[in-house]
Amino acid sequence: MLRLDGLSKFFGGLPALQDVSISVPAGQLTALIGPNGAGKSTLINCMTGVLPPSSGSIRFLDQEIAGFTAHRITRLGIHRTFQNLRLFPRLSVLDNVLTGLTCEGGESMIMAMLRLPYLRHRERQLKLRALEAMDQFGLADKAQWPAGVLAYGDKKRVELARAIVGKPKLLLLDEPVAGLNAEETAAVGEQLRNLRRAGHTILLVEHDMDLVMNIADLVVVLDSGRCIATGTADEVRRNPLVLEAYLGRMEATA
Ligand SMILES: Nc1ncnc2c1ncn2[C@@H]1O[C@H](COP(=O)(O)OP(=O)(O)OP(=O)(O)O)[C@@H](O)[C@H]1O
Ligand SMILES: [Mg+2]
Repeated sequence: MLRLDGLSKFFGGLPALQDVSISVPAGQLTALIGPNGAGKSTLINCMTGVLPPSSGSIRFLDQEIAGFTAHRITRLGIHRTFQNLRLFPRLSVLDNVLTGLTCEGGESMIMAMLRLPYLRHRERQLKLRALEAMDQFGLADKAQWPAGVLAYGDKKRVELARAIVGKPKLLLLDEPVAGLNAEETAAVGEQLRNLRRAGHTILLVEHDMDLVMNIADLVVVLDSGRCIATGTADEVRRNPLVLEAYLGRMEATA
């Protein structure tokens, strides 16, 4: 569904991504892992038009999208969540989720908010879709709560509901369980598995290795801006390069 070829991104001459070539197959859950600073969020930001890549190609459903604006990429059907929460704290949960029906990502979020009155009045259908998305993440009874008063775990789920409400073709999730406790992580893991079963194509950035090993069809490993391994969870787990670059370092810091 999505293919990167020779993708690089430099910040002031320093490489955050170097010659990355990976594929995200349709209907599967691909996990993107790697140590802090490996370039995972930068990769998502390039795929969603939040950042322009320095060079290389991003093909989505046979269309070149490298350098497209965030708004245009959202309209093509690539939706995302952010590593750091980006909710409108004073708006209700319902309204936050409704903004996912216009556009999301980067600078276009404000446009989404400006279009809310229009959305609210565009009859019940959109509301029903938003309620359905909230229901999937156990949020339906909090529809009228201001998003700002929710517990952290619920805020993460509002982001997920907002990302899926527009029925994206490709869903990019940047650490959706970061900061959640074990029970909440398991619940979100189950919700991601349900999305995968329902046919969603997902690219999941995640540090929680147990979660990744349990739900990913394919694992891609980044280290210092380079792709160092691709394979099933078992293949990647046994790859000496990965053990050294990622798991080894984790054990060393544990
Ligand atoms: N806007 C930016 N300007 C300058 N440098 C940046 C910018 N964004 C990221 N970087 C740098 O690019 C590298 C990759 O960062 P990135 O956030 O993509 O890593 P990550 O794999 O998502 O890490 P984490 O697991 O901590 O979220 C880091 O060295 C980071 O400091
Ligand atoms: Mg990141």
